[in-house]
Order: sequence, then structure tokens, then C-alpha cells
Amino acid sequence: MKDRITIAIDGPAASGKSTVGEYVAKKLDYLFFDTGIMYRAVTLAVIRKSIKPEAESEVSKLAESIQIDILPPSCPDGRKADVLIDGDDVTWEVRSKEVEANVSLVSTYKGVRDAMTGQQRRIGSRGDVVMVGRDIGTVVFPDADLKVYLEASAEVRARRRYEELLERGINSDFQEILSSTKRRDEIDKNREIAPLKPADDAVIIKTDDLTIEGVVEAILSLVSKIGLIVDGR
Ligand code: CDP
Repeated sequence: MKDRITIAIDGPAASGKSTVGEYVAKKLDYLFFDTGIMYRAVTLAVIRKSIKPEAESEVSKLAESIQIDILPPSCPDGRKADVLIDGDDVTWEVRSKEVEANVSLVSTYKGVRDAMTGQQRRIGSRGDVVMVGRDIGTVVFPDADLKVYLEASAEVRARRRYEELLERGINSDFQEILSSTKRRDEIDKNREIAPLKPADDAVIIKTDDLTIEGVVEAILSLVSKIGLIVDGR
């Protein structure tokens, strides 16, 4: 049995990667690492510095210069982790509409991706990690022990995001979320560097009709197939 395992979970916006990844990590007592937060943090830093998201070289320079930390949650307000930019708590701000509208463009830049990929490899190379994102199985950890790609229709994903916001007391417009989801998919899938796509050896799970528990179960059974024991199975 291998003693240091890397599990990569990729998929489009609101495909359930974060929720599912967190459960799987908890079950296995692994580190959970959501790489999307890093791209969101860079985007927020760009907005705060009043840099135009279209200004590729300025954005890339900023991405190389800021320190992003993702730490265990420091207060019980529903957060899964603390997100810090240069020591400043930006946990909820990285979820804003403005960040969401610009994050996919910022994520197309080579300088940004190189900076983030380097940090992700450094953190993930310790192993025993569930890493979620868009390019984990294809670029960040192409040798991951297990690669999963979660899929669902844009409508189902937008509905999930809508309900997630409602739970946080935010009433939003479903059609607006749907079009923002589709716009992000379009950019993420068609960018030149590290486009969103399943790795050749990824297991694709269609989640439209599955509950979170169902997806977690499916992943845990794949984990046990690669030689890890889960709950005595
Ligand atoms: O939670 P949601 O799926 O809506 O988004 P996220 O995982 O927080 O990622 C936000 C954005 O960051 C995505 O739309 C991608 O443009 C970008 N991203 C990326 O390019 N590569 C990753 N490994 C993770 C996120």
C-alpha cells in the first residue's frame, strides 16, 4: 500500500468539487485544498489595487508578489477556511460577484497560473491531500493516484450555487447565476493554458442525479480500489 496519496478532483463551476472534496478529505484524514480560492484571491487583490483585469502583465506581477494563505477557520461563521492576502482576512470577499465576474479572465494568464501552480505543488507534494480545481489532474499533479472529474449540466450547477447563496442569506437572480456559470465555463474550457478538461485517465462522475453523499461514496469506493482502506472496507 502507498503511504502518500494525492487525490485530484476537477470539474466546472459549482459541480460540487469543494463540498465533496472536503467530505472525502475528512473521511481519510487528509488535507483538503481548494485551489479556486487562490485564483479568487489574486482577482480580489487586482480589484483592490484598481488594476484592470485586462492588464495581463500588471496582473501577473501582482500575482507573483502577494502572499496567499489558507488556514484553518478562526471563527464559526460558516467558513471552511480563513483566506488571507498578505495577512488580511478576505474569506467572504473572495466570494463576491465582482470577483466571480473577473476570476476566469485573470486565470487565463500564464504568469498567474505559473505562480499559483508552483504554490499548489509545494503544498500538495507532502501528499495525503485532496486537491480540487480545474487543472489538478492534467497539469498540477498529472501523476495523482486518483483523478476524478465531476460533471453536471449548467442548469443544475447554477441551481446549486443559487441555493448555496440563499443559505447564506443572499437572495440572487437565478438567470444571472446561470449566465455567469456558462460564461466562466466557456473561458475555462477554451483558454490556451491548462484548459478545463478531464485528464485521459480521470474517472468521470455525472452528478446531476446524485446527492453529495452519493458522490462521496463513489469516490471513496474508488479510493479503496487503489489500495487504501476506508471504514474497514
Ligand atoms: O467554486 P467554483 O467552482 O465556482 O469556482 P472556484 O473553484 O472557486 O474557481 C474560480 C475560478 O478560478 C474558475 O472559474 C477558474 O477560472 C479558476 N480556476 C482555475 O483556473 N484553475 C483552478 N485550478 C481552480 C480555479
